[in-house]
Amino acid sequence: MGDDFLWWRDGIIYQIYPRSFYDTTGSGIGDLRGIIEKLDYLHDLGIDAIWLSPINPSPDRDFGYDVSDYLSIDPKFGSMDDFDELIQQTERKGIRIVMDLVLNHTSDQHPWFQESRSSRENPKRDWYIWRDGKGIGRSPNNWISIIGGSAWEWDEAMGQYYLHMYYKGQPDLNWRNPEVRENLLDVFRFWLGKGVKGFRLDVFNLYFKDEEFHDNPVRPFHLRPDQQQALKFNCDQPELKDTLAEIRKILDQYNDAYAIGETLLSNPGKAAGYCGENALHQAFLFDFLECPWNAHRFSSVFDQWEKSLGRDRWPNYVLNNHDVKRSASRYGQGEDDDRLKVASAMLLTLRGTPFMYYGEEIGMREVTLKRSQILDPVGLRFWPFYKGRDGCRTPMQWNSIENAGFSIGQPWLPLHPDWRERNVENQTKDPGSLLNFYKELIVLRRSEEVLVKGEIRLLQDVPNNVLAYERVYLTKKARIYLNFCQTPQEVNFAKEEILKGFSNKRKEFHFQNTISLFPDEALILFSSD
Ligand code: GLC
Repeated sequence: MGDDFLWWRDGIIYQIYPRSFYDTTGSGIGDLRGIIEKLDYLHDLGIDAIWLSPINPSPDRDFGYDVSDYLSIDPKFGSMDDFDELIQQTERKGIRIVMDLVLNHTSDQHPWFQESRSSRENPKRDWYIWRDGKGIGRSPNNWISIIGGSAWEWDEAMGQYYLHMYYKGQPDLNWRNPEVRENLLDVFRFWLGKGVKGFRLDVFNLYFKDEEFHDNPVRPFHLRPDQQQALKFNCDQPELKDTLAEIRKILDQYNDAYAIGETLLSNPGKAAGYCGENALHQAFLFDFLECPWNAHRFSSVFDQWEKSLGRDRWPNYVLNNHDVKRSASRYGQGEDDDRLKVASAMLLTLRGTPFMYYGEEIGMREVTLKRSQILDPVGLRFWPFYKGRDGCRTPMQWNSIENAGFSIGQPWLPLHPDWRERNVENQTKDPGSLLNFYKELIVLRRSEEVLVKGEIRLLQDVPNNVLAYERVYLTKKARIYLNFCQTPQEVNFAKEEILKGFSNKRKEFHFQNTISLFPDEALILFSSD
């Protein structure tokens, strides 16, 4: 890659859920030293940055997304010295650290909240959102929490309600309070000072709420809690813009510092609106996570995403994260990984930053848990209709020894029953494995700038089940053909010299006027003008 390599634009960001990556103490929970020990693996894989799901102290009602101290490390993951070492060692390997900042809410165990709820006169009273009810037993307005039920919790001692857009143990901070804002902005400065390069901002578009607390418009007949009302007055409020500009100003004081926002209820227009100058570098679009295995659905998402972003803002793509069923279970068929190769080829050759999630590279499947094994509060609440998010957060499968080599203790969540076969060690040895396919693709992406920098254009004249696009950069051209179905598909081919080809199904790249794509084939052809 050229000298102008910009890590968050041209590189690959790999999300680690630290609890489940690698445990060096036998506690059954992964830790920072575990990540340090696995840095060679990550370096060989070819990623450029690690996004760490939260590692701040947390009582774990929402497994790290309820923070009780923004400026230290949870002892269950290690110490600040371990963190400093992680920064040093990753820097040496050319890998950056992206911290997950959960700044919409804290844990109810955070000292700020403890003070805030201690008396109405406490100076931190206004650091959270307290309101009188509309009458006895009647909450201040009709807002519902994203995970269901009222967003207001009655506090007997205070005789008022506090707002929580998530679990009641996650009270929302009052970003309108200048002291709160300063303290939260200091969180960025603190971690940047430690050498962190980027941030993932948890539900950033919830930071501000309507000052008058108007009722939200109700949408009857929707089952999902986050869709039962339009979040007109507690999401995407206009005041957010200035705050994002302030955050950006801080980031811009550091070389290459970056922030990506988790856009709640994302769509291409909304997410694009939060990116750019005086705003975030990127905002997540989650539409891929909802796409069925259908070439047209994927192509229409990236087409709209490209159009919404325009030329100056850079897309990002994600097939997995800690909140959704694993793509291997959404798309894979049994233990077969063919489709996952097609999906990974798409992720790594579209124009935009690819985000990977630990275990995606070995095709880890979603784990089915019994009711008694569920830990995620959302799963506990909605069982059996929705079983929660534990299934995509299970321990990384490293090898075939006890507990897949994740821990010598009892893992905090069960492993997938396939771990003896599906693991890093086995896949490293198997030239045809998904892991080796990812590695080869990443090497290809690094060596062929056109795959990173090229303009993108959908190729229209292809069968419905084929997603095809062209990338062009200077004199180089790459054409990508992804066969989404299990029968061969014919595509037209304007004959020209192929400089190089890449496929999960063939080694020879000579074509006449058509290409017959194999079932589940991902084919990349390079040519030049
Ligand atoms: C985000 C996180 C999710 C968490 C929620 C509340 O959506 O990704 O895991 O439960 O915010 O912090």
